[in-house]
Amino acid sequence: MDIVVSGIRPTGNLHLGNYFGAVKNFIKMQNEHKCYFFIADYHSLTTHPTPADLHGNVKNVLVNFLAAGLDPEKATLYIQSDIPEVTELYLLLNMNAYLGELERVASFKEKVRTQPDNINAGLLTYPTLMAADVLIHKAAKVPVGKDQEQHLEMMRNFANRFNRMYKVEYFPAPVAFNFGEELIKIPGLDGSTKMSKSEGDYNAIYLSDEPEVIRKKIMRAVTDAGPTVENQPKPQPVENLFQLMKVLSTTDTYEHFNNLYNTCQIRYGDLKKQLAEDVIVFTHPFREKIKELFVNDNYLHKVASLGAEKARESTSRTIREVREIIGFKVF
Ligand code: TYM
Repeated sequence: MDIVVSGIRPTGNLHLGNYFGAVKNFIKMQNEHKCYFFIADYHSLTTHPTPADLHGNVKNVLVNFLAAGLDPEKATLYIQSDIPEVTELYLLLNMNAYLGELERVASFKEKVRTQPDNINAGLLTYPTLMAADVLIHKAAKVPVGKDQEQHLEMMRNFANRFNRMYKVEYFPAPVAFNFGEELIKIPGLDGSTKMSKSEGDYNAIYLSDEPEVIRKKIMRAVTDAGPTVENQPKPQPVENLFQLMKVLSTTDTYEHFNNLYNTCQIRYGDLKKQLAEDVIVFTHPFREKIKELFVNDNYLHKVASLGAEKARESTSRTIREVREIIGFKVF
């Protein structure tokens, strides 16, 4: 049985990318491993949410986690900011995290390009906080989508560096984990290669979206004028719709539309209608449970307190041991 840790930044409800890239695996793993899944609310502060938005987004992710099938009795579900040991380990790891390596991280470089007015130290040290999240449980396996690969590499660097520096074999080197399969990247509806909550309203489909919203988003998805030569490669936006269909529709449906594309008979309107109906059927049970859980604040409170208590059993042990290794001594 492995120790598994993963987190999701609270910026609203979960979308299909979060679900297929991460949460779907969380649900399977909770039956087989010792799992810690958390809501990364400290991470979300890099974008300066208002207090009301911060709280609302944490609640949304907690509700979505439970609606998707995470079981607080099987896995430990907690909120990052309930665990002070994480911030202590973050501080300690930052002492051996170097400016050069942090500046080279692709997600940081992208932020420098896209939001030059808000390049804060939290963004720069985002990977050390992620490493603290995982190493605080001495976890070796981290279920994530493909976009997190480089962050995992940083975690391994920090873990190995700590071990070398203090001549211990303390932290395992965490690896991205998807049951041995390739990591996944779910594309967006706007033609971009990644479904993402920061890319505007028409890129992502949320588990909580109502049927009319799903239909509207999918009907607006970017396509082209259609194929003119048999078996021609699909341009990115069209490929995206087929990829979504592969994940959400039956194999027969996918093959049917793929054949129509390859024989230049495809009508994108039909493909979109079919995809929208398949997404609506798929998300239906989530939507219902989200509504039910959202009004049950008592239960959410219980889940969060139980999670914090269970998580701290492991985080307090790690921090005690790390302090000893580093040389902090009680007088
Ligand atoms: P976040 O909140 O952006 O995404 C949460 C999880 O969803 C996956 N994901 C996707 N997978 C496939 N296709 C997509 N389009 C897609 N979009 C998102 C992400 O890969 C991720 O697994 N920094 C992290 C949160 C975090 C964390 C951690 C993760 C904080 N500490 C420690 C693992 C371990 C983040 O912002 O993910």
